[in-house]
Amino acid sequence: MSRYPTPILTTNRLTLRPLTMADAPDLFAVFSDPAVVRYWSAEPWTTVAHAEQCIERALDSYRDQSEVRFGIELAASGALIGTVNLHHVFPQNRRCEIGYALASPYWGKGYATEALEAAIDYGFHELRLNRIEADIDPRNAASAGVLERLGFRKEGYMPERWFVHGEMADTINYGLLRSYWDLKGKKTANTK
Ligand SMILES: CC(C)(COP(=O)(O)OP(=O)(O)OC[C@H]1O[C@@H](n2cnc3c(N)ncnc32)[C@H](O)[C@@H]1OP(=O)(O)O)[C@@H](O)C(=O)NCCC(=O)NCCS
Repeated sequence: MSRYPTPILTTNRLTLRPLTMADAPDLFAVFSDPAVVRYWSAEPWTTVAHAEQCIERALDSYRDQSEVRFGIELAASGALIGTVNLHHVFPQNRRCEIGYALASPYWGKGYATEALEAAIDYGFHELRLNRIEADIDPRNAASAGVLERLGFRKEGYMPERWFVHGEMADTINYGLLRSYWDLKGKKTANTK
């Protein structure tokens, strides 16, 4: 599999683009919100330095091409509203994992589904991946909704895999194969 620098992708309402240091305040606003990290084994960020460290790691990943981390920008306003990243990329096995988060004022508008659709399409068609995996807390219904709308299938269940805000939390493993994605594309095309 060839590796590519993080590109700029456009959808109807969004621009997916590499992060820059100028995004630190907007990124801090996303991940300092306890609602956003409710199902993560990490505490909300407390200073903008956390955002700067996250962006430093993203800049390193653009240099060594170890992962593809997009900032999600609203095309209409230019506001950075979240991130989606293709990480744990294993070129030999043509697979990776996907992670995503939106600032809570932007939930319930279809932005995450729209952003993931573009990132997944890039993963399958430009990075030539065969499989994308996600690992979510079973209580995270919004996240499951996004994955299932996009055609991910439930593949496994791992009890007490994470320690999340003081308690053990289970995981549902989801997987999306390129063959499911291409089939979904054909079905959509047929219904137009
Ligand atoms: C996971 C997360 C990104 C999902 O956000 P979301 O807003 O539910 O997902 P979308 O942006 O795709 O929006 C889908 C919702 O918008 C609605 N919607 C409104 N307008 C829409 C439009 N134009 N197009 C599509 N959906 C639209 C959909 O009906 C759906 O609502 P429903 O779930 O009640 O059916 C968000 O909850 C989040 O950031 N959580 C914190 C971080 C996190 O948990 N990440 C996942 C970790 S594994």
